[in-house]
Amino acid sequence: MYAAATDRYEKLPYRRVGDTGLQLPIITLGLWRHFSSVDPFTDREKLILKAFDNGIFSFDIANNYGSPDYGSAEKLFGEVYQRNLKPYRDELVVTTKAGFEMGIGPYQSFNSRKSLLQCIDHSLTRLKMDYVDIFYSHRPDPNTDPEETALALAQIVQSGKAIYIGISNYDADQSETMISLLNKYHVPFVVNQYSYNMLRPEAAHNGVLETIKRHDRGLVAYGPLAEGLLTERYLDGIPEDFPIHRTNTPIFAQGKAHVVTILNQLEEVAQNRNQTLAQMALAWLLRDPAVTSVLIGTTSEANLMANLDVAKHLDFNSDEVKRIKDILA
Ligand SMILES: NC(=O)c1ccc[n+]([C@@H]2O[C@H](COP(=O)([O-])OP(=O)(O)OC[C@H]3O[C@@H](n4cnc5c(N)ncnc54)[C@H](OP(=O)(O)O)[C@@H]3O)[C@@H](O)[C@H]2O)c1
Repeated sequence: MYAAATDRYEKLPYRRVGDTGLQLPIITLGLWRHFSSVDPFTDREKLILKAFDNGIFSFDIANNYGSPDYGSAEKLFGEVYQRNLKPYRDELVVTTKAGFEMGIGPYQSFNSRKSLLQCIDHSLTRLKMDYVDIFYSHRPDPNTDPEETALALAQIVQSGKAIYIGISNYDADQSETMISLLNKYHVPFVVNQYSYNMLRPEAAHNGVLETIKRHDRGLVAYGPLAEGLLTERYLDGIPEDFPIHRTNTPIFAQGKAHVVTILNQLEEVAQNRNQTLAQMALAWLLRDPAVTSVLIGTTSEANLMANLDVAKHLDFNSDEVKRIKDILA
C-alpha cells in the first residue's frame, strides 16, 4: 500500500494565492497530454505518486483531457486517487475545468448554466471524488451572459462540489468582468490559468497579470516550457512535425531556425547559472510572486525530478535579467 513520503513538504516551496487561503506548490502537474486510456496506467500512477512524494500536491485536469477519449485523464487520476491518494484527500489540490467541447450539440461546450452544472457532476463521477478544489471555467463564452456563468459557478461552490473557482484563457477585460461578477456573488475566485512562458510572454504585457494582481489573486502559468521547446531537447533543431498546439503557433512566426537560435542563447545563460534551460524557464516566470504556480506537463520521472530542482535557484541577478530580456526582445 502506498505511503507518502513524510518529508514531502520540505522539498518544494508553496505560495499563497494573493490574499486568499489557498496555497499551491510552485509546480503543478498537468494531465493534458499522455494521461489517457491509451497510456500506460502503471507508469502514470508512479509519476503522480512521485510528484506527490516530492511536494507537488496540486494536480490539474480538465473534463476534455485524455485524447482520444475525452474524460479519460479524469478517470486515470480518479483511479490513482482511489488506489493510493484517498487518505491524503485533505492535502490535495485537484482542479478540473469545463468549457471546451465534450461532444456534439449545444450543451457539450462553453459556459451555459446547464452545461456547467452537468459538467461538474460528470467530472466528479470520473474523478471518483465528492468535490474538486478548483473548478475552472476553461474559456470565455462569447454568447452566454457572464452573469449566467458566474451564477452557475456560485451554485457549484454552494453545493459543495468545488471549494474555489478559477478562470482560464480569459483576457484582461474578460477577467475583469468575470472577477467582478464572482466578487459580487461572494464566489471564492482564486486564479486565472493562462498560457505564459519565455516564448509566449503576452500575459505580462496584455493586462492579464496586471488584472489578477489588482484583485490580489494569482496566475497559474500553463505551458511554462512552451510544450517542451524550452528544454535541452531542441537545441540542435526542431523537427518539422513538432506537435505544437494551434494556440502556440505564433512561436514559429519567424521560422523554427530563429527559435533554435533563441533557445541556444538562453541555454548559455542557464549554463552560467548552473541550471538547465527548463529550470531557468520555470524560474523566470516564478520571479513574480503573483505567478503562484507553473503548470508543467511531463510523463518522465527524470524530467519531473530535474524540473523540481528549479527551487534551488529562483533568483536572477540584474545582468541575467538584462541578457534574457535582450534575447527575448
Ligand atoms: N487551461 C488551458 O487551456 C491549458 C492549455 C494547455 C495546457 N494546460 C495545462 O498545462 C499543463 C502543461 O502543459 P504543457 O504540456 O504544454 O506544458 P509544458 O510543461 O510547457 O510542456 C510539456 C512538454 O515538456 C516536456 N518536458 C518537461 N520537462 C522536460 C525536461 N526537463 N526536459 C525535456 N523535456 C521536458 C514534456 O515531455 P516529457 O513528457 O518527455 O517530459 C512535454 O513534452 C497541461 O497538462 C494542462 O494541465 C492548460
